[in-house]
Amino acid sequence: MSGPSSQYFSRAPAVDSAEQEIQLSLADLELQFTTDRGVFSQSRIDAGTRLLLQEAPHPTASMANVCDLGCGYGPIAVSLARRSPASSVWAVDLNERAVALTAKNGVANDCPDIHAVVVDSDGSAIDGTPEDLAALPTTQFDGLWSNPSIRIGKPAMHHMLTVWLDRLTPSGMAWLVVQRHLGADSLADWMTAQGWATTRVCSRAGYRLLEVKAR
Ligand SMILES: C[S@@+](CC[C@H](N)C(=O)[O-])C[C@H]1O[C@@H](n2cnc3c(N)ncnc32)[C@H](O)[C@@H]1O
Repeated sequence: MSGPSSQYFSRAPAVDSAEQEIQLSLADLELQFTTDRGVFSQSRIDAGTRLLLQEAPHPTASMANVCDLGCGYGPIAVSLARRSPASSVWAVDLNERAVALTAKNGVANDCPDIHAVVVDSDGSAIDGTPEDLAALPTTQFDGLWSNPSIRIGKPAMHHMLTVWLDRLTPSGMAWLVVQRHLGADSLADWMTAQGWATTRVCSRAGYRLLEVKAR
């Protein structure tokens, strides 16, 4: 997807920038984020994202590379980086404004080494540091966390998950938060049918937290 658009999953949001500051308070973390128009959930931390950060396992130091798929302004990526400073955290998104905010929010929250990369819908790295652009294509992830954009539509969602779940290491795991009424259960069935064994970790306030094993 390219060209200006008002949708938060476009590469170049058409709406003018109007940054604001928001807070994220978790049991183990107090974080602050700059957000902007043209990125997902600019005014508050999304309820699904909050559930993921509260209920999914934390990354561990044994995870060399972890991924926030569809990072937006970075609440998941920054939390991963703060929880496991020894891991390399990759934050990828189609939206270049979102990726720039993730990098900025990493610096603001004492985790300046997040690898924030603009990708295309086939998972190719198209903007980032030269080192990250060179490394991302061959990087495999020990863990992947995501609040995926169901609103991109089922074919695009299936393509995105196929691209990125197949970058898990053989023992890698993913945790996805999906709204029940947007098809969490059928998505879980689809992933299991494709070979990524999927189980429901918890269900709360209309969201499902799904745990996915590499195939
Ligand atoms: C629901 S938002 C979540 C944003 C952020 N992780 C959060 O929790 O606030 C999903 C994000 O996925 C991005 N996205 C959509 N399709 C994508 C794709 N194929 N590859 C990477 N990112 C994608 C969107 O641009 C959006 O920022």
